Amino acid sequence: MAQVQDPSRRRFLKSLLVIAGAATIAGALPSLRYLVPPAVGLSSFPTLLLVDSSGNPIKASSLPVNSPQTFQFSYPLTNEPNFLLNLGDDSGNPVEIPPVDVVIPATGEKYTAPGGVGPHKSIVAYSAICQHLGCKYPELHFYPPGYTAQTFNGPMSKVIHCSCHGSTYDPYQGGKVVTGPTQYPLPAVVLQWDPTTDQLYATRMVGPVIYGHASDLQGGSPPSGDTTVVEDVGNPFG
Ligand code: FES
Repeated sequence: MAQVQDPSRRRFLKSLLVIAGAATIAGALPSLRYLVPPAVGLSSFPTLLLVDSSGNPIKASSLPVNSPQTFQFSYPLTNEPNFLLNLGDDSGNPVEIPPVDVVIPATGEKYTAPGGVGPHKSIVAYSAICQHLGCKYPELHFYPPGYTAQTFNGPMSKVIHCSCHGSTYDPYQGGKVVTGPTQYPLPAVVLQWDPTTDQLYATRMVGPVIYGHASDLQGGSPPSGDTTVVEDVGNPFG
């Protein structure tokens, strides 16, 4: 026998379904916030003081020369790590790094990478994201004098090398490309040194856009204040 449905019962069941659906969507809303990345960024480069994990300013004079430890800080956005290097010669003496013209092999364009800062003009900073396909530490790191990178073009020292696919960059020459496959040099951080306080500041980036970003200023979270923490992320040789 055919079942006859009571219209009022059907309306009641339908309204229950509507309420349940609305509750499900409302419950999902908080997690949706995390599924859709917020459009965040900066409108201009900030000037950030480099500090240690306790918030004390990094003193340029106490930054170790040719350190196998890897020091990194975020700039300009919190997901944009950079190496902080105090470059030296084979004897461990700091080396003055002059500004230098760097070519972008992919486009043929040129820009001037900043020279070193600090008491010996030997302190430089470069993006710590490989410009080929985005590998980071520990695949990408500095090989100080006495430490050898096994590049696809033979052993090299005093380079930043990426073991993912063999890209090599010269931090003594503005982060220029030494070996591919990368076609883009490492973007450089323009540092400032205050000789009266011995403090270091990050002021802007030069060079190609940081890998993985449409612009250096977009695609991540801005810093929460006017400092950025220099972290010791490890010793890749240890
Ligand atoms: S990601 Fe560094 S060489 Fe490919």
